[in-house]
Amino acid sequence: MQSPINLWGKRLVLGVTGSIAAYKAVGLLRVLAREGAAVSVIMTQAATKFVTPLTFEVLSGRRVATDLFESHEEMAHLALSEQAHAIIVAPATANFMAKAALGLAGDLLSTMLLNARCPVIVAPAMDGDMWTHPTVVQHVQALRARGVVVLDPEVGPLASGQIAQGRLPAESRILDAVHASLISQRDWQGQRVLVSAGPTQEPIDPVRFISNRSSGKMGYAIAEAARDRGAEVILVTGPSALTPPPRVTTVPVNTASEMSDALNRHFPTATILIMAAAVADFRPKMTAGQKLKKQGKPELVLELEATPDILAMLSARRTSQIVIGFAAETEQVLSHAKDKLRGKGLDLIIANDVSRAGGGFGSDDNAVVILSASGEQKVLGLMPKRRLADEILTAVQELCLFPPRRESFVE
Ligand code: CTP
Repeated sequence: MQSPINLWGKRLVLGVTGSIAAYKAVGLLRVLAREGAAVSVIMTQAATKFVTPLTFEVLSGRRVATDLFESHEEMAHLALSEQAHAIIVAPATANFMAKAALGLAGDLLSTMLLNARCPVIVAPAMDGDMWTHPTVVQHVQALRARGVVVLDPEVGPLASGQIAQGRLPAESRILDAVHASLISQRDWQGQRVLVSAGPTQEPIDPVRFISNRSSGKMGYAIAEAARDRGAEVILVTGPSALTPPPRVTTVPVNTASEMSDALNRHFPTATILIMAAAVADFRPKMTAGQKLKKQGKPELVLELEATPDILAMLSARRTSQIVIGFAAETEQVLSHAKDKLRGKGLDLIIANDVSRAGGGFGSDDNAVVILSASGEQKVLGLMPKRRLADEILTAVQELCLFPPRRESFVE
């Protein structure tokens, strides 16, 4: 099966209803999680007769909700449908599809569907005679007319012993449908995102420079994630071993001063600036025209001068742009990050403990805390940088572009 996109950063809800095929949802959950999706499982009461919630809980790493009225937490689960990128119901029984078609909301899963505005994919499993029953046919038609993707079940031996059309569609077909629904989700379309990445190199002489350990991975991941979500992306990058991402306008630079020029050029037409570059704070006051010779000198003193603070400068010049910075810290991470948020006049700052094992410079993974100018805080635990990039974009949307809806959705 071809995977046109992976599922990093995608929030999915997997609804499991009471069919003998419920055990197959366990395999589906594993595949979705392996592709990087954050999957929350909702089970109907009937589904729990076939597979225990604990199985899904262990594999998803999240509590499984089953009952609309069990506790406040279930209410919180309802919010999942507002935030989900897609809802998948697999297996879906005839009973579930009838409720969904009629808009009944007697259980958590059906209620969630009424609340959902994201793509919904339904993978039915039932007896062959049920699938062809006029009532079921009518409900499937009603759901499809509403834009729900109802997959056709497959032909084969069924639990009843019949050979008929009623088997849960193969995992690969469900996954294809998920990918297809997400690929059309270009929620950053219309944004012109300016991203900086990598280190800068400040020359001492033609062969030596001052730089830092930044690999560019975080900034490149953000550029790719924004591109995949429909944004037009300009990536201004310091020297990096990474391949320039396709379909992103990449502007390579070396020094802080070149980075400043490139960003200044593109900033006026950008809607969002994400400054992930590790800009050198100091550069040699003089760059030697020829290679410095040691000539038996016991020491060499380099005189350094401060580079311009590009982020603070652009933030001061902004018209309507959203301006986001990173804070690379090794101690007192949050308090230093807050100072930078205020000091540079940012909308958001992404605080990064670069001394933490498993994250930071050069690593494929990272963990950050996002702080907003309005005092909100979002902790994103250790995860691959590509997935983190998507989570960061989602946080930017939630905190800056479309602040969260706060009304209650269940009376
Ligand atoms: N930054 C910048 N220009 C500089 C230095 C930093 O635009 N000359 C940006 C970085 O890209 C980052 C943010 O400012 O988005 C914070 O960078 P960081 O290195 O964490 O902090 P500094 O402001 O350089 O302060 P310090 O080195 O004292 O921690």
